[in-house]
Amino acid sequence: MVATSCPQFSGLRRSSPIFHNARSQSFLQHINSQLRLSSSRKPCRSVVAMAGSGKFFVGGNWKCNGTIDSITKLVSDLNSAKFENDVDVVVSPPFVYLDMVSSSLTDRIEVSAQNSWIGKGGAFTGEISVEQLKDIGCKWVILGHSERRHIIGEDDQFIGKKAAYALNEGLGVIACIDVVPSWDNIVIAYEPVWAIGTGKVASKTRIIYGGSVNGSNCAELAKQADIDGFLVGGASLKGPEFATIVNSVTSKKVAA
Ligand code: PGA
Repeated sequence: MVATSCPQFSGLRRSSPIFHNARSQSFLQHINSQLRLSSSRKPCRSVVAMAGSGKFFVGGNWKCNGTIDSITKLVSDLNSAKFENDVDVVVSPPFVYLDMVSSSLTDRIEVSAQNSWIGKGGAFTGEISVEQLKDIGCKWVILGHSERRHIIGEDDQFIGKKAAYALNEGLGVIACIDVVPSWDNIVIAYEPVWAIGTGKVASKTRIIYGGSVNGSNCAELAKQADIDGFLVGGASLKGPEFATIVNSVTSKKVAA
């Protein structure tokens, strides 16, 4: 299905908040139509590919950073920032601040969790369920980030199950592939099951890049023909710099 080093789960994403509870066959179609590949291959750079609307996409992963004070300031900066229209913008605060950010952030920006539990909630100490994320207005979840793989020890099968559950319950998934030492000789084949031998074709596939993206290099990166957006870590903690990265879509338009 996907690149050699991409295991059974390759990254899944929907392009709009509305994701019906389609199960069985139509669910599979949903997964494939929303396929998104993400790679965090630290210390190297990473690439995210996804199928969706074709719109420029910028996600800010705040990781395990922030306090009420600093996040209040960041949300205020983001709320007053001017973003180009034709960009999907998503930020991902730590769990404990999700509700606060979700209820205070402008509707222009959607909110993502940085992890979710593999199934329905219950006796799973320390975990957060997809249902709970949806309950507070969260639209997305990042799964399979290299930091969760390398530090926490999550594997492909576990992440794949999480992704399937989250998607099935209507959450968008920003999913990451890992253990790719070099992308030089890799061709990613996006072959949705529903498109093979059926005469139907995938309309648009986005590929976004992650790894040390910042306000200084984003314009140059955005110009690259095969980059349709970014997954941003450190630089997403500064509102004005994150806005600069979101608005680098204008470089892409000029280059086109
Ligand atoms: P960075 O993080 O932008 O701080 O390099 C990117 C990521 O971990 O996805």
